[in-house]
Amino acid sequence: MEHLLSRRAAGASSSVIRDLLRLVDRPGVLSLAGGLPAPEGFPVDRIRLAAERALAGGGRYGVTALQYGPTEGDDELRDLAAARLGAPAHDVLITTGSQQGLDLVARALVDPGDVVVVEAPSYLGALQALRACEPVFAEVGTDECGLRTDVLEDLLVAGLRPKLLYTVPNFQNPSGATLPLERRRHLAALADRFGFLIVEDDPYGVLRFRGEHVASIRTFSDRVVTLGTASKLLAPGLRVAWLAAPEWLFGSLVRLKQAADLHTSSLAQRIAADVLADHDFLAAHVRRVGAIYRERCDALAAAVVDTVDVVVPDGGMFLWGRVCGDAIDTTELLPRAVELGVAFVPGAAFHVGDGGHESVRLSFSTLTPAELAEAASRLAAAIDLTRRETVVPGSLLSAGHLGS
Ligand SMILES: Cc1ncc(COP(=O)(O)O)c(C=O)c1O
Repeated sequence: MEHLLSRRAAGASSSVIRDLLRLVDRPGVLSLAGGLPAPEGFPVDRIRLAAERALAGGGRYGVTALQYGPTEGDDELRDLAAARLGAPAHDVLITTGSQQGLDLVARALVDPGDVVVVEAPSYLGALQALRACEPVFAEVGTDECGLRTDVLEDLLVAGLRPKLLYTVPNFQNPSGATLPLERRRHLAALADRFGFLIVEDDPYGVLRFRGEHVASIRTFSDRVVTLGTASKLLAPGLRVAWLAAPEWLFGSLVRLKQAADLHTSSLAQRIAADVLADHDFLAAHVRRVGAIYRERCDALAAAVVDTVDVVVPDGGMFLWGRVCGDAIDTTELLPRAVELGVAFVPGAAFHVGDGGHESVRLSFSTLTPAELAEAASRLAAAIDLTRRETVVPGSLLSAGHLGS
């Protein structure tokens, strides 16, 4: 009966990461593959209190937490999100995770054949949401500071005309890179000059554990949609996120959301608003979570120092880099690594074009420092084994390279 599927559904590929997570979720495998926040960081008690308050019949909100609500979202939560985003509350839409925000923005803007610029590497979930709208992707390379805006400018000057550009400016997934202020300014100026929209997806800015905050891209231009989420700040199971969009786009996003789910869970919104309004608690919570991530980031970075060439980030959940030494295809490395009890995501998964084959994404968020050290030593062993098995005697070429 598959012929009944729409072209869109038939063409929708599952996320490589999701497929992989199913494979690696077996006893004994230390996973550096997932993108899950540290569960020890979930503010369970504070969320329980918020839920009790939201459900207290005689309380401030009575039963509204269980009633239908406006598509745009809970007013108090919109105000709180507006303050976080640096946008007026009337530009803020509450979404069911920022994944929904990405889907809405893609569907509001992208017709088949429209040019969409993405970073190489890029967040898979955004590629999935965009791909459903059948764009023509243009990849722009990155370095340790994120998007090469100079390369983008050359492409634009040469005639590239994108409708939108998608970027994760803080502690990017997968690369961990943070776009410096000057590049943000440059990118905003390019959007103004060439008339495209920037989609600034910022789930990880809240997970800064070192260094200075960098102003958002929306500070420099009106042609920006900025997305934030409670997923990394509080807990992803709430499915509460927010975006700020320019007025000309806002109504379309609201109508698309109405068709998708009427509104984000009233109860989850009330819980999120209650916790986000508790500024003292939130500041202490962010410090506590940051300390967990910093310790894990540094532990993994130290443990892979001879194995993977990483730039240590100031926040987020990921280390990214090329495997040290002779070229190795990390997609071929993965099965060997899983056999030895460690999983990661091969770099090729994050590219729409043919790139990233020698890179890996290593998530440090869910393992303890001791587990991270063990995972790193298994990874090193898997690399050694793979190299020994695939080197053709008398040649420097690996079997992977001969075979493709
Ligand atoms: C860059 C990026 N954007 C968006 C999301 C989705 O987040 P949410 O849980 O808010 O849907 C993720 C999740 O990992 C992500 O890494």
